[in-house]
Amino acid sequence: MAYFKVNGGVPLNGEVSVSGSKNAALPILCASVLADAPCRIENLPEIEDVKRLIEILTAMGATVECPESGVAVIDPSTIKDRRVSTEMATKLRASYYMLGSLLGRYGEAEVAEPGGCAIGQRPMDYHINGMRSLGADVIDRGGIIIARADELCGSDIFLDMASVGATINIMLAASRAKGKTTINNAAREPHVVDVANFLNAMGASIRGAGTDVIRINGREKLHGCTYAVIPDQIEAGTYMIAAAATKGNVVIKNLIPAHLEAISAKLMECGIDVVEGDSGSEFYIRVSAHDRPRPVNIRTLPYPGFPTDLQQPMTALLAISYGNSFITENLFEDRFNHVRELNRMGAHITVNGRTALVAGLEKLYGAEIHATDLRAGAAMIVAALMAEGESIIRNVHYIDRGYEHLVEKLCALGARIERVTE
Ligand code: UD1
Repeated sequence: MAYFKVNGGVPLNGEVSVSGSKNAALPILCASVLADAPCRIENLPEIEDVKRLIEILTAMGATVECPESGVAVIDPSTIKDRRVSTEMATKLRASYYMLGSLLGRYGEAEVAEPGGCAIGQRPMDYHINGMRSLGADVIDRGGIIIARADELCGSDIFLDMASVGATINIMLAASRAKGKTTINNAAREPHVVDVANFLNAMGASIRGAGTDVIRINGREKLHGCTYAVIPDQIEAGTYMIAAAATKGNVVIKNLIPAHLEAISAKLMECGIDVVEGDSGSEFYIRVSAHDRPRPVNIRTLPYPGFPTDLQQPMTALLAISYGNSFITENLFEDRFNHVRELNRMGAHITVNGRTALVAGLEKLYGAEIHATDLRAGAAMIVAALMAEGESIIRNVHYIDRGYEHLVEKLCALGARIERVTE
């Protein structure tokens, strides 16, 4: 088992380039199933979740070639199996996107309930209701979701919550359904827009992605295309927080500043310098800090609100603020597992239901800590980088699921972090 050894207290300095978005890359890989010809997908992050999804595609019979790093060419015409086994599906959350893709393409899908981070119940009722609205028969047989439809027909769908997963899954199935589908109260996250752009590049007709009403005109066929995944908003935000936490000065390159407005605004409220720029070839954000942050209150919300995926690293930063911060997690009912680990490093955080009270202290101290899920792992990284002394971070397989070349990128910024394989 690998772990990270971190000697904290070193300000991060320099430039870091953001990789392709995990939460866009995974549904885009699944969406390639909907095409009748090969798709070339570029700017894929080299992370565990991408590898696992490519394993799923290969197990289904798709022909997948990776001619160079960050590129996959997927030929779905060889797919024979419309099932995703429990063993494969439970390795990641995004396996649930095979439900919409397989159903849209073949009119049948058998996909085991997904895995992913244990941050709450994370039901799939909106996904299933969406597929039923499109005319599919869907049953859950012992944790396997079985969906069949002689013909999918467009429908008017209203989501109770702006669920990212349900919005994308419905978009996938509806892109080859007969007629028009409208998704009301759709999620507006950048990766929803990226998946819609990918589907449109395949010949789909999707309008309104990025707003809360998405309209899809189903197409009989979708063709192949070449497409590059957008930069990862959450990875960018994690480096922004790490720069602030270590009182560093970091230029984060290859990002879309508009996707980071909620995090930029919060960091500025903390008294941290955040400057957006355009080098001519790409956008960047420079984050520099000279002092501990001022306390701020955070409420996680669907995009464009403060992203739940950055709540955990932000909690680590606020642990060394000058006062009390309230953090309210509105999306997932059990997303405070990082608090116990931060408190082991000397933080003073109490959780009551969906709200954490973070009483800021001067510093944290190195300790042996555990990543309990992917973004809790990001919080551990931020905490260990800013803490005094040595930290050992266990369960780094969670972090490997979502951060490309994390150790290499942090070392290039001057961090003292190494991966140790036992
Ligand atoms: C996705 C992301 C995850 C991110 C989250 C919110 C992937 C693989 N995962 O997760 O990183 O933290 O969006 O930005 O992209 N809900 C239901 N029923 C449903 C679906 C959702 O009740 O059928 C609820 C969830 O429990 C949660 C809320 O809706 O409370 C939002 O969940 P959703 O946006 O669907 O998140 P995920 O797709 O699971």
